[in-house]
This record gives sequence, C-alpha cells and structure tokens, in this order.
Amino acid sequence: MRVLVVGQGGREHALCWKLKQSPLVREIYAAPGNAGIASIADCVPIGVADIIELADFADKLKIDLTIVGPELPLTLGIVDEFQKRGLCIFGPTRLAAELEGSKVFSKEFMRKYNVPTAEAIACTSADEARDALKRMKYPAVIKVDGLAAGKGVVIVQSKAEADEYLQMVFDDKKFGNAADRILIEEFLTGEEVSFLVLSDGKRVAPLAPAKDYKKALDGETGPNTGGMGAHSPAVVLSGETAAVVMKSIVMPTIQGMASEGRMYSGVLYIGLMLTADGPKVLEYNCRFGDPETQVQMLRLEDDLADVCLKVAQGNLGDTKLTWRKEAAACVVVAVDGYPDEYPKGQEVEIDPISDDAVVVFHAGTVRRGAKIINVAGRVINVCARAATLSEALAKVYEAVPKIRFAGARYRHDIGWRALEQRKQAAAE
Ligand code: AMP
Ligand code: GLY
Repeated sequence: MRVLVVGQGGREHALCWKLKQSPLVREIYAAPGNAGIASIADCVPIGVADIIELADFADKLKIDLTIVGPELPLTLGIVDEFQKRGLCIFGPTRLAAELEGSKVFSKEFMRKYNVPTAEAIACTSADEARDALKRMKYPAVIKVDGLAAGKGVVIVQSKAEADEYLQMVFDDKKFGNAADRILIEEFLTGEEVSFLVLSDGKRVAPLAPAKDYKKALDGETGPNTGGMGAHSPAVVLSGETAAVVMKSIVMPTIQGMASEGRMYSGVLYIGLMLTADGPKVLEYNCRFGDPETQVQMLRLEDDLADVCLKVAQGNLGDTKLTWRKEAAACVVVAVDGYPDEYPKGQEVEIDPISDDAVVVFHAGTVRRGAKIINVAGRVINVCARAATLSEALAKVYEAVPKIRFAGARYRHDIGWRALEQRKQAAAE
C-alpha cells in the first residue's frame, strides 16, 4: 500500500512510525510532515488545509489510504472531497466532524441523545452571556463554538474574569466568526481521561484509554495547552467505568450520529471528566489525540494500516484491538512561552539515546540545511515503553535532557499524580 498521512505534529510522526512497521505498507507520504517524519516518509509540501491539492496528490500517486491527523481538514470536508473522487480516506465527513467543529452542535446533540455532559447555555452576545453566568456558579467555563487552535476554552473564577474574556470575544473579535456563538458551561471536577474509539459508523473498537496532561505547568497550573504529556494505561479509569462509558456515551453517540444522517467513521476522541456522578463528556474531537497517539502507538499490537483501512471501507466488523501489557509514557518538550507567545527558529539538538525503549517523535520541527529548527510551541516528544508506568516515566525523564534548545521547557510531574492515586487506592 501507499499511505498518505496528513499533518505535521508528534501525532503524525507516531502514526508514520507505526505504519512503517506494517508489512502491508510499501510507501509512506506525509503532507507536510516534519524533520522527524522525513526520516521514515516522503514529505510533500502541501498544507493540511489545502484539501484540493491533497486530493490531487492522492489521485496522481494512486494513494491507497489517506489518514488525516488534525481536525482542520476534516471540518473543511477533506473526507467528502476524497470520497467524491473515489479515494480511500480514514476520517469523518464534514457533517460528522461537526462534533468537534461546533461546540454548540455537540452540546445540543448530547442533550438530544442523553449523553452525560456539563450543563451549558448557548449565547450569541455578551449580554446574553452575562445573564447566563448569573445562573451558573464560579468557577464557570466559557467555550467558543468553532475551532480556536486550542484557545477557545477558559475557566473563569469571577465575574471580572468573565467580563474580560467576553470583551475579547465579542468586542475585540479575537476568534472571529468562530465565536459568533459561545457556551457558558458548568465547571466539572474530577479526573480527566481520553477515551478514543475507532468506528466505521456502525461498529466500534475502543483504543486503550490514555491520560493527557493539558495544563502548561507542573502541579496542573498555568494555561490549557494541546497536551504536555500522556500515558497509557490511563490508570485513573477502571474497567467498570470504561464499560459505563461504552454504554452511556460511546454507543449513543455513534448511533445518534447515524440517526442524524451524520454517520461517524474514523476515530472519535471523547474527552471525559470522571465526576462523582459518573463519567461526563467535556469535548468530542474528530481525530486522534496529540500526545495520546504517541503512547497508544507504542502499545498497539495490531497493524495500523489494516485497521484504518477496515474503518475507511466500512468494514470494521468485530475487530478488537490488542494492546501490549507494557505501559507507555510521553513528555512534551515545548518552548518557554507556549501556549502564548514563544520564539520560533531555534536550533534543536538531539543527543544520541542508547536506550532502545525510548522513542523520540518530532512535534514542531523542520530541517533547514543541516539544522533542525522549531516551528511550533510543542517541539519534541520523548516517549518510552516499559513493564510498568513508573519505569516508562523514569526512562523518559532520563532521556529528556538529551533534547537541547534555547528555552526548552517540560513538565516534571507527568504521571505522578495518577501513580500516587493508585498507591493510595492499593493501601485503602
Ligand atoms: P475542551 O476543548 O472542551 O476539552 O476544553 C479544554 C480543557 O478545558 C479540557 O480538557 C478541560 O481541562 C477543561 N474543561 C473544559 N470543559 C470543562 C468543564 N465543563 N469543567 C471543567 N473543565 C473543563
Ligand atoms: N491532547 C488533547 C487533544 O489531542 O485534543
């Protein structure tokens, strides 16, 4: 097979790394890829939003399977365009991708199909939002309806903080049309977990749950980011709760989307909060997670090309994914300042790492001559697999100093709280 991976982050590097191991795959292309991906795939300079150019490329090269990493091309209808041309592609159509593309749509959908989620009120003006906030307690959550590069969600502690954000949204139009509508949402407490499933629209196959660490700084402080580290198993999710999630969240979502005429095919990422009242949906994403994919690919035993092909062909059947017993962990090395302002163009050096259990994925790099430089806030992902999560984390943290660039910053506490909780639970 010739496979095309759309995207340029650590998630796409991990997907290419896994595809490379498939006996079914002869050639891998990435658009646009990054400096790390370039060592295992042919990188083609087409941007992720250029869906016509991507389809032309797939047509011309007779690509057998395209796997889409980021949400943007999915919400722009890349799958519809490929399918129109008879090209095989893994991912949801534009209508199905609205589960991520519009938070108001997904909230109304969850309400209609009784999927447990936080209470929320949709608003179209600052006045409406202020009224809605009077009916919520602080902290409260404000969410911009459309895609906002991970910056469209804030937790506000007071009316003053809410007013400041609302001004940015409605007066300064910081998010443009993406914020024509917003949600004022109830703040949920508990542990977060990333629950992903493959679906061909009818059947589903869950991925191994993962835990992502979204806050920028140690001790769950600082702003929300795309994710600063991850591990699988998630540790905080019991088998019992996973069964509840499948029954009360996953199946109603897949079946509900089918009855809405928006059949969901591809991978569905469900961001969950494990609350005292049971698991509730924080968000849907219409794609693989980043950095969840990095740890999941380290644990997946099955052939990724084969399962993605089955999904894309509507042929998942009763496929069950198999996972290595070992744990996998990932720490994101970011540039100081991320997710706000940060420098680009810094030279990135990676010293040799002798431990075979460690895998380094590139997240935001390009090659300039002989140098590797950063082009994004999340630069490198250091990952490892080992018999236990503590061993995997130890291997990762031993290797992290091998990544060197000006202003490199990472969290020192990935996995720490999950392991503490497990120790406590064992002692009780
Ligand atoms: P979202 O893009 O909706 O997942 O929001 C990004 C992050 O904001 C989530 O991963 C949570 O950490 C946090 N968040 C979103 N919604 C809520 C909520 N209702 N209560 C508490 N935290 C939330
Ligand atoms: N790690 C969070 C996400 O992929 O959305």
